[in-house]
Amino acid sequence: MRLAIPSPPLPRVELHFENDVACLRFRGEMVKVNRGHFSKLELLYRYSCIDDPRFEKFLSRVWCLLKRYQVMFGSGANEGTGLQGALPVTVFEALHRQFGVSFECFASPLNCYFKQFCSAFPDSDGFFGSRGHFLAFSPVSGSFEANPPFCEELMEAMVKHFEELLVQSSEPLSFIVIVPEWRDPVTPALTRMEASKFLRHQLSVPAYEHEYRSGSQHICKREEMYYRAVHGTALLFLQNDAGFAKWAPTPERLAELTAAYRPISSRTSSLSSPGPAHTVPGDKDSVPKASEKTQGTAECKYSLRPVCGQAAASLK
Ligand SMILES: C[S@@+](CC[C@H](N)C(=O)[O-])C[C@H]1O[C@@H](n2cnc3c(N)ncnc32)[C@H](O)[C@@H]1O
Repeated sequence: MRLAIPSPPLPRVELHFENDVACLRFRGEMVKVNRGHFSKLELLYRYSCIDDPRFEKFLSRVWCLLKRYQVMFGSGANEGTGLQGALPVTVFEALHRQFGVSFECFASPLNCYFKQFCSAFPDSDGFFGSRGHFLAFSPVSGSFEANPPFCEELMEAMVKHFEELLVQSSEPLSFIVIVPEWRDPVTPALTRMEASKFLRHQLSVPAYEHEYRSGSQHICKREEMYYRAVHGTALLFLQNDAGFAKWAPTPERLAELTAAYRPISSRTSSLSSPGPAHTVPGDKDSVPKASEKTQGTAECKYSLRPVCGQAAASLK
């Protein structure tokens, strides 16, 4: 990401670790992130930031990012983090393997699985891989996952944007959309997608039979990492003809995706609402693997580089 105006010199931010938590201090104020996500931010910065090869601005930019999301979340326990719940890692893996997905339309550097994504704050997230707001992003080809914040107006605008993109492109283009199955009353986004000529398939995952990854994943306790969904979830496959030819939702692919949604019974606990944002160690799921292999799935036309894989941290 390159901003039009060069970054001014940034004030010094201090870093220390308390067990598995990175603590960043600026003018007497502290923000925290678990060690795994701190390492993930380092990797994302290395992939995406082009104006700071020596990492001199890294800590100040991490501080800004964390502070901004902290303010967005709000100060109360669970406040706002519900808008940040992510798909389980197993589901992302299946989407990547079976449908060639390599980009999240709605994400943050803290909750992204892929290293390419759109997010709410391009100016501070851009150094970590954000390609901007989704509604201002216009890919012509590629396979995308979209799990938007559950906000009806944004979801409706998102569907309108998908349809415009799918009409305009004759190259393979696919959006796998994940929204709550709210039917009483039904949301305009769901109604519009169900009537869309681009809809190739639709799946329902029942309430309490699947999980989301906590919106506080970068700071919560490991046993609070996943919570059971209290609503059903709808998955809709919107694809143009070329996208359908390339990534058709065949029974075999759908079977793997459905299996990936099954909650892992060995988890310590599975709360039915997002857990409180405690500052404690240990999200092993987010600790990056030392080796980064290139996967070469440069499907998305906007992308400058192929997608690189990073296992445990889930950065593909
Ligand atoms: C439900 S979470 C998705 C989590 C995860 N990336 C996934 O796909 O499962 C929605 C994310 O979209 C981000 N977001 C909000 N407005 C956005 C926008 N206009 N464009 C892109 N992302 C946005 C939120 O900050 C949040 O991180």
